Amino acid sequence: MDNYEQIPMLVVPCIHVPGRVPFVVGPVLGASALYGSIYPAIQNFLLGCRAAGLGACLTTLPLWNVRRVRRVLGLPRSVLPVAVIPVGRPRGRYGPTTRRPLEDVVHLNRYGNRPTG
Ligand SMILES: Cc1cc2nc3c(=O)[nH]c(=O)nc-3n(C[C@H](O)[C@H](O)[C@H](O)COP(=O)(O)O)c2cc1C
Repeated sequence: MDNYEQIPMLVVPCIHVPGRVPFVVGPVLGASALYGSIYPAIQNFLLGCRAAGLGACLTTLPLWNVRRVRRVLGLPRSVLPVAVIPVGRPRGRYGPTTRRPLEDVVHLNRYGNRPTG
């Protein structure tokens, strides 16, 4: 991003993880349950920003150095940052997004069964 330092607000959603990250049943299910507990809230936040006329974008690359993020924000080890959401007033394109048609990404009952029209 060219103007990152001008972004008025960066929201950093975090999960409180007391003890070890709960990889109880297996790494995939553990991670899925962990991140799944916060991504719906993140999506609601993004929709709320949109409804309020604000520009917002889900990013995770700024967390490449979690240790540094923890230090900057003073996060204890039990608090895990999961995203960085720049929020501001849009200056450029703010139109509809492009999405693949639903029938290109949905499988009915079994993988490969595409819904027809
Ligand atoms: C989990 C996740 C992490 C993402 N991380 C980044 C990121 O670090 N940097 C980035 O430019 N876009 C990132 N994106 C993509 C943007 O959130 C956004 O979807 C993309 O810029 C397309 O914009 P649009 O959704 O308005 O079409 C990420 C998306 C997801 C789902």
